[in-house]
Amino acid sequence: MAVEVVSLTEADIPGAIQVIQQAFADDPYFKWVFDARSFNTQRNYGSLAARCRWGINNAIFQVAKDTSAASPAILGVSCWLAPHPPTQPASWYSWYQSWVLSFQQLFNNIRYRGHGGLRTHRYWIWKERQQEAQAQIWDDPRGYYFCNIVAVSPEAQGKGVGRMLFEAVTKRADAEGVKCYLESSKSVPNVQIYERMGFEMRKEMECRDGEDACMLYCMVRNPKTE
Ligand SMILES: CC(C)(COP(=O)(O)OP(=O)(O)OC[C@H]1O[C@@H](n2cnc3c(N)ncnc32)[C@H](O)[C@@H]1OP(=O)(O)O)[C@@H](O)C(=O)NCCC(=O)NCCS
Repeated sequence: MAVEVVSLTEADIPGAIQVIQQAFADDPYFKWVFDARSFNTQRNYGSLAARCRWGINNAIFQVAKDTSAASPAILGVSCWLAPHPPTQPASWYSWYQSWVLSFQQLFNNIRYRGHGGLRTHRYWIWKERQQEAQAQIWDDPRGYYFCNIVAVSPEAQGKGVGRMLFEAVTKRADAEGVKCYLESSKSVPNVQIYERMGFEMRKEMECRDGEDACMLYCMVRNPKTE
């Protein structure tokens, strides 16, 4: 298998979404934030497609491809946000792009008549806990490379694809002397996998909605100096 990590293109979006949907099918956060009885795969596809298009221009959205296959298959996906100093306001461009994304999601709501099973109040609970956690943990005024999505297709897991996706960004972070941050929605085996990538556990973040709670594991990676 010959794998390369390249920037996401429009043509990669269907394959990238397939990987994300498969890899997150049993994810504890997704089970908590989506209602399985009303989950709409097509609506979720629409939402992820909008996120991918946004990511092409506004994030470090990459795919790992098996280039030895006749038609290169997508094995993994990652989406990182570049560091942004928390004290500085977002640029006009990124503000505008966020609104474009919001309008696309509104369009999806109209087209699919709802959020496709997304429990929006839980999404906002997570956002609040995330803000609190970052306020406690983030101490670098330059900001952090923030791993927003990482997913490897179930057949390709455990073969080094995740490491390649991580290193495409962590090498850059090391060269710039910048920290990285992620929230793992699985304790086992992901916390151990991320420790192999140089991340350290900083906080266990509970997102609670009445009786139902979901734990997320906030991890930070300091830049390596060699
Ligand atoms: C988490 C995930 C992205 C890791 O990608 P991957 O391709 O499976 O990981 P790799 O094969 O590159 O392994 C990376 C390191 O973790 C180790 N590792 C892999 N699987 C492991 C496991 N089950 N237990 C312990 N360590 C493991 C590897 O040995 C490797 O370390 P090394 O390079 O120092 O030897 C992938 O498994 C995945 O998509 N899981 C499902 C979706 C998910 O949980 N996404 C993240 C939500 S926070």
